[in-house]
Amino acid sequence: MSVKPIFFALDGKELNEFREELEKLKGVIYGVKVGLEMFTAEGPSSVEKLKNDGWKVFLDLKLHDIPNTVQAATVSAANIGADYLTIHIASGKEALHAANENKTEDIKLLGVSSVLTSKAYDEETSRAVERDFLVAKESGIDGVICPASEIEATKKIFDLIVTPGIRLESDSKDDQRNITTPEKAIELGAKYIVMGRSIKNNLDYIVERLEI
Ligand code: C5P
Repeated sequence: MSVKPIFFALDGKELNEFREELEKLKGVIYGVKVGLEMFTAEGPSSVEKLKNDGWKVFLDLKLHDIPNTVQAATVSAANIGADYLTIHIASGKEALHAANENKTEDIKLLGVSSVLTSKAYDEETSRAVERDFLVAKESGIDGVICPASEIEATKKIFDLIVTPGIRLESDSKDDQRNITTPEKAIELGAKYIVMGRSIKNNLDYIVERLEI
């Protein structure tokens, strides 16, 4: 069975909370996502432990600062072993470019538009997202975090598309509005999907039956 292109969102304070899931998911999915909550609580050791266990780590810090700071934080993230890092496109082209120019090959940068998946979508927001993604492309960064509704348009701009807001048909939507299923996101062109609560709620199904 090939590795499923999923990042499991570790949305909690401690790695320990996810021990059972991580054991079952090892070798089944591509990687894990460490977000602000865990990184603030546990610091770099969370990333280092996951790397030691052989995980690809997506560090979701959504950096938003002046070019010098964004660039320096990118180097620090690469040094602790992060494989992917998010930066707000609103930091500006100069900041994205500085981060990209000064990083090693080991870390991939993903741009984040301020328009999040929990918002309802309309044409105006789509245009705003596309404008952001074009700025990200010009800066040279590797890819973007892209809501389900924008995958098709974004494929013309980036290959590396990572899509959150994923739910199985049987799941509740929680606070996500712009959602799709794992199969549909991959079919539309996402390279990886991010799944948090839906993995927790359907662990055996994801491990044994989900085919993507
Ligand atoms: O799958 P679930 O809704 O539990 O996962 C939520 C994860 O996706 C969180 O870690 C959140 O930060 C992330 N995310 C999101 N919407 C975005 C970008 C990231 O929900 N636009």
